[in-house]
Amino acid sequence: MKILMVCLGNICRSPLAEGVMQHLADEHNLGWTVDSAGTGSWHVGEAPDRRSVLVARNHGIDISKQVCRQFRRTDFDQFDHIFVMDRNNLSDVLNMARNEQEAAKVKLLLGDKVVPDPYYDDSRFEPVFELIEGGCKDIIAELRGARV
Ligand code: 4NP
Repeated sequence: MKILMVCLGNICRSPLAEGVMQHLADEHNLGWTVDSAGTGSWHVGEAPDRRSVLVARNHGIDISKQVCRQFRRTDFDQFDHIFVMDRNNLSDVLNMARNEQEAAKVKLLLGDKVVPDPYYDDSRFEPVFELIEGGCKDIIAELRGARV
């Protein structure tokens, strides 16, 4: 299974989602590959935001080696599932889909809720981590047909 996490900048939310999902998948020996990307290009080549690195480290996950990249159309070929954080990400990614099969790969990480952008508020990184962790656990349960 190959999973891509997408947000706007690929420095705050989707690096956390990549780190959490890879960590959980490894813990359960699922053999999944997880990556992340941003719909925007401002931070390409950069490491994740230090506040995301810190909150992940506080939960035992190292995301410091990740490198920001932009979402690209070929990601539809490379990944089985593409999870986005909010409704802007959803429409941006869906607008790049070339057909129904590609569009069907794209879903909100939290199903019917959004992961809010924490960029302008330091206090939102911990709640964002917890939202992402809950979403990743639900996705693993759904995709393997069992709770974790
Ligand atoms: P992210 O947060 O989408 O969770 O990575 C953002 C980070 C940077 C910017 C926007 C959102 N920015 O505009 O630079």
